[in-house]
Amino acid sequence: MRIDVVTIFPEYLEPLNVSLVGKARAAGRLDVRVRDLRQSTYDRHNTVDDTPYGGGPGMVMMTGPWGEALDQTLADGYEAGAHHPVLVVPTPSGRPFTQALAVDLAERPWLVFTPARYEGIDSRVTAEYATRLPVLEVSIGDYVLAGGEAAVLVITEAVARLLPGVLGNAQSHADDSFAPGAMADLLEGPVYTKPPTWRGRGIPDVLLSGHHGRIARWRRDEALRRTVANRPDLIERADPAAFGKKDREMLSILGWQPGPDGRFGPNPDAVEE
Ligand code: ADE
Repeated sequence: MRIDVVTIFPEYLEPLNVSLVGKARAAGRLDVRVRDLRQSTYDRHNTVDDTPYGGGPGMVMMTGPWGEALDQTLADGYEAGAHHPVLVVPTPSGRPFTQALAVDLAERPWLVFTPARYEGIDSRVTAEYATRLPVLEVSIGDYVLAGGEAAVLVITEAVARLLPGVLGNAQSHADDSFAPGAMADLLEGPVYTKPPTWRGRGIPDVLLSGHHGRIARWRRDEALRRTVANRPDLIERADPAAFGKKDREMLSILGWQPGPDGRFGPNPDAVEE
């Protein structure tokens, strides 16, 4: 996969040299190019922003530098044999970044990221490139960052670990929380390793039992417990057919019950533990 990033802070993308993404690059599975947007400015101050039409606070990134930088990025990539680029525009106004979107992006041969600072990029830039390639505006969460670079790091890491040969064990992402087709969308439960006792705390007996069936059941119960605590919306949204008899028993213990439509919700009579 080829990834291009156009930014006014190339040094912000240094973490792409480290750990999983760094190794994927070193192994030749990922070709990352970072381009400084200011190389595409021609005034003394290397200006990339101006005041918004219609007034209002902040500054807007100008069409000129983005147009030139993206044209050159695309030309470089095509020349190197890359094809089917997708423009990924990080913005708090984008569609939510999810594991399903990470899986989709991991199947694309070439991603071009345009992290913006200030109030964003003049809209004509995305309109222009949308006539030539798919453009995805993507938000990594309901909060506002100072710029899109941190979002590029997040998206790139989530995508890179899905590329063939990057993680040792393919099963390790089949089980991810939010993996498409995961047993309902439940969060993963707690995990333990050696030593068997730490500061007086032991390991749940079942994990030492060697009984695979009971271990799987315990893990599922803990996944339900954690999901109810941290992401009750996932239980409310889940297809009730995803919950078997034992799941229903656990949900009932956790104070959840099926409503008239079969979907689970908190039992209003349940006593909080
Ligand atoms: N830029 C600023 N905030 C962002 C967010 N939440 N997601 C993606 N890009 C952003």
